[in-house]
Amino acid sequence: MKKNKPAKPAAPAQQDVAAQLGLRPGQSLELLKALHILTREGKLNQDSRRKLKQVYHLYQFIAPLLEELSANDHPVTLADHGAGKSYLGFILYDLFFKPLGRGSIYGIETRAPLVQASQQLAADLGFDRMQFLNMSVADSTQADFMPAQFDIVTALHACDTATDDAIAFGLEKHAQALVLVPCCQAELAAAMRQNKALHLARTPLAELWRHPIHTREIGSHLTNVLRCLYLEACGYQVTVTELVGWEHSMKNELIIARYTGQKKRSSAQRLRELLEQFGLQAALAHRYPLSGVAAP
Ligand SMILES: C[S@@+](CC[C@H](N)C(=O)[O-])C[C@H]1O[C@@H](n2cnc3c(N)ncnc32)[C@H](O)[C@@H]1O
Repeated sequence: MKKNKPAKPAAPAQQDVAAQLGLRPGQSLELLKALHILTREGKLNQDSRRKLKQVYHLYQFIAPLLEELSANDHPVTLADHGAGKSYLGFILYDLFFKPLGRGSIYGIETRAPLVQASQQLAADLGFDRMQFLNMSVADSTQADFMPAQFDIVTALHACDTATDDAIAFGLEKHAQALVLVPCCQAELAAAMRQNKALHLARTPLAELWRHPIHTREIGSHLTNVLRCLYLEACGYQVTVTELVGWEHSMKNELIIARYTGQKKRSSAQRLRELLEQFGLQAALAHRYPLSGVAAP
């Protein structure tokens, strides 16, 4: 009688690579090759390794959320905004959604060739609960074919205001969790640049953004502070931490928001005050529509 052959152990070189990458059992080497993290020969591609390290690190934060939200056979829905090549989505699917056998991932991305490549790769790998949509985050919020509810929203280095749009998407879709690693931010700095002289005459605070490099830095920092306050005002508990060491990326602030339903009035108030102090009410009121959320 023919016996089933035991699974072949990985070749020593592959074991090496697997150890270096910290691969989990069952993880697809084909996927890593397709994402160019491994070369066709199964060797490490150093540039992509950096990306993989970020995504793995992020996975440690997302996995407990996925586990919790997929309890009671719930099929978790996750939207990944500004998906790019969808490293994050593919790794999440491979590590969590595939073995679980339920739940789906939507990747939203404006660059058509990246969307097409992701669609092809998902088809090749049989990752059939992944969808890739060639549209902006804002348009995906309005699209009537999208589910009315998403459990988790991720946005890893989604450019500029795409992170704000991802927050608006999460609020609209009643997301239980948002995991955001913001990218460069230009909108707020542009508003601060306007009437700089006026603000310098009005408040010593304007010294914080007198020099152009400071305008950029404080613009980016303040943007994230306002985003956190806004999420708290909308009923989320917010944690801000570091994604990975600075040697891997200059943009490594990780914002995790969990829905509790407790809308913090104090955060809404602080948000309003900061907008006023920094002279940003007119330019940014549309980003933080607080009316009816947590009125003073
Ligand atoms: C820096 S890349 C990050 C890609 C991916 N999340 C990652 O970390 O590898 C940002 C991506 O967001 C996309 N993007 C920028 N603005 C967008 C928007 N408003 N809606 C959807 N995608 C957007 C860009 O085309 C780009 O692929």
